[in-house]
Amino acid sequence: MAIQENNKTKSLRGLFSSKKNSHVSTASKSDFPIVQAMAAGQEVGDKALQKSAKKHLWMHFTRHSPYNKIDMTIIQKADGHYLTDSKGRRVIDGLSGLFTVNAGHGRQELADAAAKQTMELDFMPLWSYAHPRAVELAERLISYAPKDLTRIFFTTGGGEAVESAWKIAKQYFKMTGKPLKHKVISRQTAYHGTSHGALSITGIAAFKQMFEPLVPSTFRIPNTNWYRADSRFKTEDEFALWAANRLEEVILFEGPDTVAAFFVEPIQNAGGCFTAPKSYFKRIREICDKYDVILVADETITGFGRTGEMFGSQRYDINPDMMITAKAITSGVAPLGALFIKEKYFTPFNEGTVTLAHGYTFAAHPVACAVALANLDIYDKERLVDNVRINSPIFRKTLEKLKDLPIVGDVRGDGYFFAIELVRNQETKESLTREESEKILRGFLNSALYEQGLYCRADDRGDPVIQLAPPLTCGPKEFEEIEQILRSVLIEAGKRL
Ligand SMILES: Cc1ncc(COP(=O)(O)O)c(C=O)c1O
Repeated sequence: MAIQENNKTKSLRGLFSSKKNSHVSTASKSDFPIVQAMAAGQEVGDKALQKSAKKHLWMHFTRHSPYNKIDMTIIQKADGHYLTDSKGRRVIDGLSGLFTVNAGHGRQELADAAAKQTMELDFMPLWSYAHPRAVELAERLISYAPKDLTRIFFTTGGGEAVESAWKIAKQYFKMTGKPLKHKVISRQTAYHGTSHGALSITGIAAFKQMFEPLVPSTFRIPNTNWYRADSRFKTEDEFALWAANRLEEVILFEGPDTVAAFFVEPIQNAGGCFTAPKSYFKRIREICDKYDVILVADETITGFGRTGEMFGSQRYDINPDMMITAKAITSGVAPLGALFIKEKYFTPFNEGTVTLAHGYTFAAHPVACAVALANLDIYDKERLVDNVRINSPIFRKTLEKLKDLPIVGDVRGDGYFFAIELVRNQETKESLTREESEKILRGFLNSALYEQGLYCRADDRGDPVIQLAPPLTCGPKEFEEIEQILRSVLIEAGKRL
């Protein structure tokens, strides 16, 4: 057993036999070795963590059966751009946790803000009572936002903000004389969250099957996967116009008086960083205006500098009616989401006895708001968004060097947000078969990249891609390190095809 006793707390031994601890003693004490060790002030080693994790943890979006044979990766510490696991391995964080830790790991300013806020006001919900940090944060967020987004509905994450946007849209139209408007359109393979409403809007069939029937009334249009666009399109603008016009088509198929909103990410993550030219979003805006459809930009990932502007909506001139943000709003230190809304959609809620019967206990948690404010101070002081804008072309160039490997089909993305699509044949763009994808991605790449020192994601929700989104504090040195690891692992992956 890898639990080592430290001297200081030897005296705590025996605590478990005392009657005071009877609340944990209904089962055999040996069932809870970590509880015992912690109560005795002992360090908990990897072996004990592994055993307990395999017994009690239910990991998200994770196949569990392999852990019957192999160990889990348990990340124990993080500093700057690096993660350290319970076996002492140190790897570069090529995904900012999960597109969250934009200011880099272990920021003292964020820890201080959380501690200070805990002592000043530890908790207050936003249910009928406000608190200063929520007020300050709402104004501060709006000061960075695209024009006309002047109202904030806080949540604890992206999926809840998606739910909230849909519910607000439905109630808005019910109160403004268009009660049939309730349907939502989104894009093929797009991920918008996992709760029933957000999952209904998500465009990944494989994630939905087990939970059908979902919330009815959502529809998909094609995304902007230019790499795999039909060869009849000679320019990306031409393809993008075709893709945007599919929105009008579905609105007309369904009946404009029934469609409430269109959800779109400025850069679609699932499928691998599908960007679109500004002309796409211009056409989308026109269509939404024509049919009175609410344009919702889901910036759960692209918000807070990821694209080289504070928000992707600014980078691509989207002019959304609502904008969803989460993840990097606190650089991952506390859970928080913020849905930005144009005043027009709030106005009917500001009359008479009208209430939006919707909310979350932990939304706008004072500690999370204080951390978010301190995080924005870091953005301003260290000019993180400028750093992305300046270095993004270097990041792109560094990753594009990998195109000399036959397995690399495409390198695409923007800002500090790139995907590398893997193929069987660079010339023909022939994709990996399902079996190859299983063998290469799941069976090799994810673990090999990690073993070589890179935490990122190999993903096959669409075509097989490696996703990269390092902290915004990174620069050319880190890009080189990432490229070197990718190169050695992709060479080996190519041999295994
Ligand atoms: C675009 C998008 N929307 C929504 C979500 C869901 O966010 P959360 O996991 O915070 O609920 C995600 C999560 O990755 C996302 O990428």
